[in-house]
Amino acid sequence: MKKIVSILGARPQFVKAAVLSRIIAEKNDIEEVIVHTGQHYDANMSAVFFDDMHIPQPKYNLNINGLSHGAMTGQMLEKIEEVLQIEKPDAIVVYGDTNSTVAGALAAKKMHIKVIHIEAGLRSFNMKMPEEINRIITDRISDLLLCPTQKAIDNLIAEGFENLETQFVLTGDIMKEAVTYYSAMVPKKATVLQDCNLTSDAFILATIHRPENTDTIENLKSIFKALDEISKIHQVVLPIHPRTKKILEKHQIKTQVKLIDPVGYFDMLALLQNCKMVITDSGGLQKEAFFNKKFCIIAREETEWVELVDNGFATIVGSDTQKITTAFKDFSNKEISFEKPLYGTDVGANIYNEILKVLG
Ligand code: UD1
Repeated sequence: MKKIVSILGARPQFVKAAVLSRIIAEKNDIEEVIVHTGQHYDANMSAVFFDDMHIPQPKYNLNINGLSHGAMTGQMLEKIEEVLQIEKPDAIVVYGDTNSTVAGALAAKKMHIKVIHIEAGLRSFNMKMPEEINRIITDRISDLLLCPTQKAIDNLIAEGFENLETQFVLTGDIMKEAVTYYSAMVPKKATVLQDCNLTSDAFILATIHRPENTDTIENLKSIFKALDEISKIHQVVLPIHPRTKKILEKHQIKTQVKLIDPVGYFDMLALLQNCKMVITDSGGLQKEAFFNKKFCIIAREETEWVELVDNGFATIVGSDTQKITTAFKDFSNKEISFEKPLYGTDVGANIYNEILKVLG
C-alpha cells in the first residue's frame, strides 16, 4: 500500500483535509499519516475541527507556533524532515499557502519525496503577503499541482509551468465539497445562533485577521469604523482571531461589533447560511460566502479568487471606511443569481484520482 504524509497546521487546512482524509479512509487504497505542525493550537482553532469533521487524529503533533515567520518555518522544516525519515512516504500532501505548507514541501522535496500541492496556482501578485511567497515556492517545487480554478491554471502557464516537469491539473475547489458535504448536518450540530442570540437574516458576518489589516493600526481602526457604521443598520457578528483580539485589546479599540470566540466548522456554516452578507479579509470565507449565496465585501487590496469579483459576487475595498460602507449599501440593494458553476464538481474524487495516478 502506498503511503502519504499530510501536513496540516492552520484552520483552513483542517477543513480541506476533512474532505480528502474521509475519501482516503473510505477507499482504503492509500495509508495516510497526518502531521499537525501545531501552527494553530487553541481548542477552538484546531481540536474542534478534528472532532466535528471526524478528521483522523494526527500521528505527530509538532507543537510549533507563535513564532516569527523564519523561526516557525525553520522549526517545522527540521521536525517534518525527522518525521519523513521515520515514515518514508511515497508522497507528501500540502494544502494552501501557510508556513506549514511551504515547510512540508521543502522538507519533502530535499529528500526526493514527491510533493502534491492542493489549492495550487493561486496568486495575489502581492509579494508582501507571506502566503504569496509560500505558494510560489511550494508550487515551484511540487510534482503535482491540483488547481481549484481555471485562473490558477492560467497563472501557472504564465509562469512557464508548461515547460517544467511539474504536472498541473484542474480539479475544482476542495472547500466547495466541504460546504456541500457538511451543510446538511448544520441544523443538528450548530448551536451558535442560539448561543449568541442571533436572528436569521438580521446580521452581517465579518472576520478580520490578515497581518496587513491587523498589524497596521490605521487599517484596523478604519475597518472597525466601517463595521461600527454598519452596526447602526444591522448587527455585525465577528468571530475573532487570536491575533486580532490581542491587537484590539492592546490599542483599547472599542467597538459596537458583536465579538464572539472563534467558531467550529458547523457554527461557521450556520453563520454563513443565516447572515445577510459577509465582510472579510479571509481567502476561504470569500468562497464560502458564495457557496452560501451571500455577497462578500473583501477587506483586502486584491484577491486570488478573481472570478468572484468578475461575476459580481464580491467586491474589493481594502480597509477604507467609506469604500466598505458604500459596498455594503450597494450589495444591500442588489439581487443576483448565485447559480454559477465556478468551482467544479466531484472535487474530492478528482483530487483523490490524481493522487492515485501520481503514486503509480
Ligand atoms: C495563518 C496563515 C494564513 C491563514 C490563517 C488562517 C501563514 C503565514 N498564515 O495565519 O494564511 O489565512 O492562518 O487562520 O501561515 N494564535 C493563537 N492561537 C491559535 C492560533 C494562532 O493564539 O490557535 C496566535 C499566534 O500565536 C500568533 C497569531 O495568532 O500570535 C497568528 O497566528 P499564525 O499562525 O502565525 O498566523 P495566522 O494569522 O493564523
